[in-house]
Amino acid sequence: MRVSDQALISAADIAARVAELGRALTAEYDGRRPLLLGVLKGASLFFADLVRTLPIELEIDFVQARSYAGTRSTGSVALSRAEDLEVSGRHVIVIEDIVDTGHTATVLLERLRGLGPASLALCTLLDKPSRREVEIHPDYLGFTIENHFVVGYGLDHEGLYRNLPAVHVMEE
Ligand code: IMP
Repeated sequence: MRVSDQALISAADIAARVAELGRALTAEYDGRRPLLLGVLKGASLFFADLVRTLPIELEIDFVQARSYAGTRSTGSVALSRAEDLEVSGRHVIVIEDIVDTGHTATVLLERLRGLGPASLALCTLLDKPSRREVEIHPDYLGFTIENHFVVGYGLDHEGLYRNLPAVHVMEE
């Protein structure tokens, strides 16, 4: 497997889309002091860029989501730090890197809903709807992509490539 030379989504296109998402979130959440909840590790770069486009009062926190047994998208998702989150009565925006089968985001949103937020929204940089196993529709979405395995801008393959500034496809 190797990383494609050409980016699927360039750093400039990411920055432009992040700014657009920032304007949409600002319009919706100004005055509501939202809690932006980043899902580690993949959403870390997107999260850091996105929060800097929001000129509003907000708070941040993080949760880690992992599929069991080191495999991805198995449908068995472990969350860490979820019980530490102060979500009750808050306007919570979950910031994800990618929604693939949908299991991770579904488990996380269900868990958060049980903690009594005032509102709950899902914002993801990437969406692969062709791989969906559970129905879930992001409220805020950067880019819809085909069924590729992608890396860069926070996304990894076996721990590598998160630091690439653009999104690339992993090729055979
Ligand atoms: P899910 O299948 O929607 O539960 O996605 C689970 C997680 O798998 C995502 O949050 C990512 O961390 C990871 N993932 C899914 N597709 C990709 C990909 O194309 N590249 C890198 N990570 C991915």
